Amino acid sequence: MSDNHNTIDDLMLENRKFPPSAQFKRQALVAGTELYDEAAEDYQGFWARQAADLLTWSTDWNTICEWNLPYAKWFLGGQLNVSYNCLDRHVEAGRGDKVAFYWEGEPGDARVLTYADLLDEVQRLANALKDLGVQRGDRVNIYLPMIPEAAVAMLACARIGAAHSVVFGGFSAQSLSDRINDAEAKVLITADGGHRRGEVFPLKPAADDALVSAPTIEHVIVVRRGGNDVEMVTGRDHWYHDLIAAADPVCPAEPMDAEQLLFLLYTSGTTGKPKGIMHTTGGYLTQVAFTHKYVFDLHPDTDVFWCTADVGWVTGHSYIVYGPLANGATSVMYEGVPNFPGNDRLWAIIEKYKVTKFYTAPTAIRTFMKWGAAEPEKHDLSSLRVLGSVGEPINPEAWMWYHEHIGAGTCPVVDTWWQTETGGIMISPLPGATTTKPGSATFPLPGIGVEVVDDSGKRVEQGGGYLTLTQPWPGMLRGIWGDPQRYFDTYWSRYEGRYFAGDGCKLDDEGYLWLLGRVDDVMNVSGHRISTTEVESALVSHPAVAEAAVVGALDDTTGQAIIAYVTLRGGSDVDIAELRDHVATEIGAIAKPKTIYFTADLPKTRSGKIMRRLLRDVAEGRNLGDTTTLADASVVGELQRRAAEATVED
Ligand code: WT7
Repeated sequence: MSDNHNTIDDLMLENRKFPPSAQFKRQALVAGTELYDEAAEDYQGFWARQAADLLTWSTDWNTICEWNLPYAKWFLGGQLNVSYNCLDRHVEAGRGDKVAFYWEGEPGDARVLTYADLLDEVQRLANALKDLGVQRGDRVNIYLPMIPEAAVAMLACARIGAAHSVVFGGFSAQSLSDRINDAEAKVLITADGGHRRGEVFPLKPAADDALVSAPTIEHVIVVRRGGNDVEMVTGRDHWYHDLIAAADPVCPAEPMDAEQLLFLLYTSGTTGKPKGIMHTTGGYLTQVAFTHKYVFDLHPDTDVFWCTADVGWVTGHSYIVYGPLANGATSVMYEGVPNFPGNDRLWAIIEKYKVTKFYTAPTAIRTFMKWGAAEPEKHDLSSLRVLGSVGEPINPEAWMWYHEHIGAGTCPVVDTWWQTETGGIMISPLPGATTTKPGSATFPLPGIGVEVVDDSGKRVEQGGGYLTLTQPWPGMLRGIWGDPQRYFDTYWSRYEGRYFAGDGCKLDDEGYLWLLGRVDDVMNVSGHRISTTEVESALVSHPAVAEAAVVGALDDTTGQAIIAYVTLRGGSDVDIAELRDHVATEIGAIAKPKTIYFTADLPKTRSGKIMRRLLRDVAEGRNLGDTTTLADASVVGELQRRAAEATVED
């Protein structure tokens, strides 16, 4: 434990190491340090080489990077079209019949879309958008289930230089209208409904509600998917299939400036109204193509890639749509939940399509642990080669479970740290080159500058601190839509000259990076700053525990006291005293939770992040504020009831 209280304490020690196997190295794109060495010499030159190798430009750039802190522009003077890079060039090269998406609907229906199919539909929709008055620089909102039309819609916007703003289909009418109004979008692309957990959830009615207070929308395009009844407003609303059937099939891809706005994506953050994160064309596509290729060791002729995120999140933008399509890869896209009709749905899909590269979130992995290893054992998962994780710190035991029960002990696990704001992966192993440690995202990728610092901004060589980024990167956000001051304040004001990510992070004695969760979640117990991640990982390392959420609640004696909410693995049992002792043994008495509650579920955001703010409110007996971004609101009511009854353990 560190005595230095200007940083976060470093409590956990994880010693297991997993070097890539000789067999994996032999076939790997990168098995040595060559990319790191090249980028260390000249990071801008390195990114320029990636941009030239991975993308097709209609005009070369004259300046690689113009850096006026906090604003970067990449590949100035260069022109390219994202949709051309994702579609036309593959078809022109004779790969039109290659599968772009194996799409699987939740009810069990399926579609196969080749690159030629996608190109045809994207051109038609692009022309339909133009006919509805959409021009370069306009914004188009997308509010769809996980259906191929979501990718088509994004690419059609990119083709004509309109920026898309995708709103996750699980968000409410209010969230949708807020985002439409902030972006001043002209057109909304939605669906009648989609399939989720065996039922049709209506989207168009929510969109109609949103449009009552979203006056900038002139036209609505509606995909038929749910089959539910919807009202169509004459003159405003159009069926997608009618527009596609009537549209001119040819829409040439126009060259766009490298810095043309490609999309806005709203991220809530912890307070205040959602921020419209801005991403542009050339730099973003370079970074997502590069990271998709090297982090997943892509072999486009044989790989079947599957990222389980929703297109409504940045992970879906970068690793379902733009990265894989720019690289000409074949992907799986799945509409529904992981437990319909049974808890083995994802494993059935992996077996069906022979998925080789699988990318999911720790929250999902911990849920699979809760459901038990018997579920994946029902299926042949031997096609898998690389496993990825993103979205939250992955606890070492969840990493081990993923490695053993999904990866058969042979697939490298890549824990990838990044954010909506970074556009693409920033910290991750390269699976053929990096020796991994369970729970560590390891090292910055080539071309990325990371430093851990203490409160005063002094570099930390070993131990806990705050994650900062020290140099511009091509996929970095270009600002917050309509709010430059907030952009500066949020990311660039805390440490001069550095991007502050908002995450705690520690460095071990070998320079590995261990993400410690959001800084807002760090607890202060008797003057020790303790990361929620470390205590949660200690709890999850007990064989009976599947998932844990830890918060600091006000305490008269210690400032904050550690309160833990624990979900057990199916069929397991353990008592509270044993768990508290387990934490003390794993990381020390200071981190022993004062109170532990057992719960069947934890409150999570729709993207799967544990809502510790809410658990803090519950633990401190406060009335709950806004819970609209919660995936399942009933969980909290139950926890509140139990908190009111609880007697505090000592
Ligand atoms: C925040 C960003 C990046 C796409 C999905 C989430 C957390 C993300 C990791 C990881 C530890 C992680 C961070 C980050 N996070 N990946 N591998 N290890 N933490 O995007 O919603 O913008 O969230 O997610 O706290 O700041 P996002």
